[in-house]
Parts: sequence; C-alpha cells; structure tokens
Amino acid sequence: MLTRVTVAVRKAGLREELCRLLSRPDVLMETVKDGARGWRRVAEQTADVIIIELSLIPPPRPESVRLLGELPDRPTVVVISAGEDAEERARLLAAGCEAVLHEDLPPDALREVLGAVVERRAEEAGRVLLGPRDMETPHLADFVSESPAMQTFMEVTRRIVPSASSLLLLGETGVGKERLARAVHAESPRRGGPFVAINCGALPESLLESELFGHEKGAFTGAARTRRGLFELAHTGTVFLDEIGEMPYHLQVKLLRVLQDREVRPVGGERTIPVDVRIMAASNRDLDEEVEAGNFRRDLFYRLSVVTLTIPPLRERREDIPVLVESYLDYLQPRVGCDVDGITPEAVAALVDYSWPGNVRELINVIERALLLCDGRQVTLDDLPQGIRAARDNRAEAPAPDFEEGLAGGWTERPWKDVREEALAELERAYFAALLEKTGGRVGDAAGRAGISPRSLYEKMRRHELRKEDFRPPRD
Ligand SMILES: Nc1ncnc2c1ncn2[C@@H]1O[C@H](COP(=O)(O)OP(=O)(O)OP(=O)(O)O)[C@@H](O)[C@H]1O
Ligand SMILES: [Mg+2]
Repeated sequence: MLTRVTVAVRKAGLREELCRLLSRPDVLMETVKDGARGWRRVAEQTADVIIIELSLIPPPRPESVRLLGELPDRPTVVVISAGEDAEERARLLAAGCEAVLHEDLPPDALREVLGAVVERRAEEAGRVLLGPRDMETPHLADFVSESPAMQTFMEVTRRIVPSASSLLLLGETGVGKERLARAVHAESPRRGGPFVAINCGALPESLLESELFGHEKGAFTGAARTRRGLFELAHTGTVFLDEIGEMPYHLQVKLLRVLQDREVRPVGGERTIPVDVRIMAASNRDLDEEVEAGNFRRDLFYRLSVVTLTIPPLRERREDIPVLVESYLDYLQPRVGCDVDGITPEAVAALVDYSWPGNVRELINVIERALLLCDGRQVTLDDLPQGIRAARDNRAEAPAPDFEEGLAGGWTERPWKDVREEALAELERAYFAALLEKTGGRVGDAAGRAGISPRSLYEKMRRHELRKEDFRPPRD
C-alpha cells in the first residue's frame, strides 16, 4: 500500500523540508498550508500519518488530536511545536499523539524520527492487508497433481511465477482461479506486498470505478472524504480482477491506462498516483468471444493475456479427486464438528466418476454435506447427493439391469404386477442413463434415438433424477 502522509505546516521552509525528508516512492504526500480551512482539509484527507503544526490545531488541542486519531484510517499523529510547554506536550501524548517534536530539531533527527513513524505505519498496513499466514493460504503445492493435464499446466505456471507480467486466468466456475492467483502471488517476489481482490461483476459501474481508482473529496455527492482505490492499496503487491469480462467498457479504457502508464487517476482528481502492481484477471467466460462481440476491448485483452493460464476442469483430472477428497475431509471435520474415520471406496469411486460442473467448489460442498449427514464411522455412498450416486450407475454402463439383484427379496414371492413395474422402472432408468451417456447429455439427440419427444425424455429424466450435466463430455 502507498502510505499517505499529510504535512500541515504554515512555514513554507519547514513544510518543504519535511516533504523532502519523507519523500519515498511508496509515500504519497499531501500538504496543507493555511489556518481554519487547513484544519478542515486535514480532517477530510485520507491519511495514514498526519504531521501537523501545533498552531494549526484548534483548541482544546488534546481533544482535537484525539478526534484526528479517530478518523476512519486511524492516522498516526505527530505534532510539530515551536515552544517547550511540558504540560501541553504531556496532554497531547495522552490524547494519542505519537510524538511532539520541536521544529528546530536538526534535519537528521527529524528524518530519523518521522522516517521511523512512517515505516512502522507502512508495516502495520501490510500486516492488516495480508492477514496472518495460515494453512488456508494457498500455495502452488496445493495444485500438485497426479494428472498429466494438470502437470503440464503447473509446469507453465511455475515459469511465470517470478515475472511481473499480467496474468489472465481462465477456467470454469470453481476450478480454483482465485486460489491459483493467490498462490502465484504468495510465491512471487511480490509476496511481501498485499493481494487485493475485487469482483468486477459485483458492483455497479460508478462504485466499481471509485473502488478501483479511488476518489477525491467532492468528486460526487456523498464523497465527503478522499478515498484510496484498490490499486493504491495494492501498491507493491497484486490486484486480482475477478470476472474481468463484466468490467464496463469505459472502465476498460481506464484499466488499460493503468497497465500502460503504471499510474491511476482518482475519480474527480487532477493528479495521478504512481502505482506498482501486478495485475491478474480471471474469467469463466470466453473472452475471445466477448472481444468479437465488441463487449471487451481488444487492446486490453491483448495486454492482459500476455500470459494466459486455463485451469482444466476437475473432470479432466479425475486422478486428483481422491486427494482433494482426503484433504477436505481432514480440513472440514473440525469445522463441521464431526469426526469420521474416512470414506468408503465405493463413495470415492462415485466422486471420481461424477462430472463436477461446479468443480472444486462443488466438491467441497458435497463433502461438507456428507459430513453433516454421515451418522456412521465412515462417509458412504448414502451420504452423497442422488446426482452423484446416479453418475456412478451410469459409469457402470450396464447394458441392462440385474433384475435378480435389483428385485431382492425374492421376486417369485411377489405379484407379477409389482415385479413388472419395478423391473420396468429399473430398465427405463438404465436405458436412458446409457443413452444420455452415449449422446454426451444432448437431450434432443437422445430423444431422437429413443424415438420419443424431448419433452417425454425430460419427464423421464426428472422421474429418475438424471441430470444432463452429469453426462457432458469433458471440454477442452
Ligand atoms: N487445487 C486445489 N486444492 C484445494 N482447494 C482448491 C483447489 N482448487 C480450488 N480449491 C478451492 O475451491 C474453491 C473454489 O476455488 P476458487 O474460488 O479459486 O475458484 P474460481 O475459479 O475463482 O471460481 P469462480 O469462477 O466461480 O469465481 C475454493 O474454496 C478453493 O480454495
Ligand atoms: Mg473466483
């Protein structure tokens, strides 16, 4: 993050001296010169550190200092005074002021003290943004995989980790685009900087603009204070723009400028702010198509897609499913509040066979649900949703059901009518499941082959809880 420092000092010489002493690439300086209006400006600025001359603080001064410290960014306040009033000094410190410095201190001493204040503040901001490093921090090792598709993918990924170039992450919903972006950041030379994520589809256009680029006070009705944008917050780190395809056209131009010039212009502002960020963008749409359709700027697409990584869907790396299941069983048990010894091989096999349209996210939900339902020592087939159990049946691709097993309980003991109905239902289910498997879940095609209308097929699928999504072939 850029550290914002407000220097509110009347004497031009001292003000300039302080700005010079504190000038650093990651410090954004704001100066305030005059009296009554000056105090208001100080209070309206967004600042991490406020260095203010005593005479600019309205009395009662300790109370005013306390108010400054309570501004939304909880700035660190340093007072510069011309006198030596020990009692006032003590009261200011008690009100939360970080230091009271005499204006005649030699420049070296000023630099040392103020430099340390700014440095400490910058470190704290970094810690808050980064949060504690815990087991939930993704690492590239999470994506280590048995599957050849994923191994090739990870080889490419590893090569781009150290670079500063933009990254475009594509893939179906829930494949782990954000997780991968976080992992790349966590292992890149920018790991010390923040990772700031935003979903471009989740905010209305005007809000998205000030969220990304910040705004100046008075930029629009309600903009009572200046506000930092995400690019500024992410200084020296990474900005993750999720659902980039949803970004409104005119903001795409602004984003392109950030990529080209490495600076942002806050909404309603004159000046630009230099930012050093790596941009990662993600989409589960086909951005090529959006470009063709004129919804997404071609120049921005080229700029973003210098390196494009497409994460394969889970059904194209089924080898990874058992490992993911194991690790999420371990991870979720204490969180869900239950304790199991594992999962039966049949249940794992069913999970491996399923087509996972919602990818890893869906898998996590299924495991959480299974843990909640599970009342034995192991997660079994019965704890899985019907759609997944059904997929298991399809894979078996039994040409016809095994009636004797299906009608357990001795069919000769039961009336013909019941047996016929039950056998017919089983036959029907097996037949249509096999047909949907064969046609890759294309209902029109399957209905044509069966010689029935798509509408009747939908009806049968509903009755037998067959979902066309479960039969879709892997996409490439
Ligand atoms: N390889 C993996 N190992 C462990 N967990 C994973 C893995 N890949 C994804 N996940 C988990 O799956 C969930 C979905 O991942 P993520 O949010 O990164 O997906 P996404 O591609 O950004 O999805 P969407 O397009 O819907 O935003 C997250 O909880 C993530 O931690
Ligand atoms: Mg996402």
